Amino acid sequence: MTDNQFAKAFFYMVALLAALTVVLVGIGILMASDVDTRMEAEKQQHRDRIIAERIAPAGMLAVGEQALAEDAEAAPPPTVQMAEAGEVSGEAVYNVSCVACHGPGIAGAPALGKPEAWTERISRGMEALVENAINGYQGTAGFMPAKGGNPSLSDAQVRAAVEYMVENSR
Ligand code: HEC
Repeated sequence: MTDNQFAKAFFYMVALLAALTVVLVGIGILMASDVDTRMEAEKQQHRDRIIAERIAPAGMLAVGEQALAEDAEAAPPPTVQMAEAGEVSGEAVYNVSCVACHGPGIAGAPALGKPEAWTERISRGMEALVENAINGYQGTAGFMPAKGGNPSLSDAQVRAAVEYMVENSR
């Protein structure tokens, strides 16, 4: 093999290895991005599940005789029972659907019995507070889910719970 032949063979070998490197790096990048998207999807699922658990209603509120009968068969979830449809106890509703956040005052929720957390809110008027409690809203302090995350509550029940909270937080 002359020097010239050797140089040629050497050059082709280097060129071949360089091409192989490019191909392998390309495959590597493709595989890595696939793993990334799968991991991202899994993380998102995990986050969704945690959020769902955190905003799940602490219990359900049943109203009327049918609810009482149904409740006798199926014990969980914990249920506030009321003799008459339409009868509303703000305290009972609060203890089932609102206390989880508003008791300790977590995640920005104004705590029951803490006037400093309520003065500005109360000054906006009862109607504004009831409306936000029924429809839910994103404030600067945190996220208030519609009806505290318990869609089985009637508007009147949510109103009673708001009145109970305000009465005890002045
Ligand atoms: C998952 C937690 C959570 C639950 C459960 C919850 N709240 Fe709230 N609530 C919040 C947070 C957080 C805020 C404060 C939002 C803000 O102002 O940024 C809030 C604010 C409020 C306010 C003040 C509204 C205003 O306009 O300032 C009222 C009234 C209220 N909640 C009523 C209720 C009632 C009634 C229930 C039960 C039926 C309930 N909340 C259940 C988290 C919760």
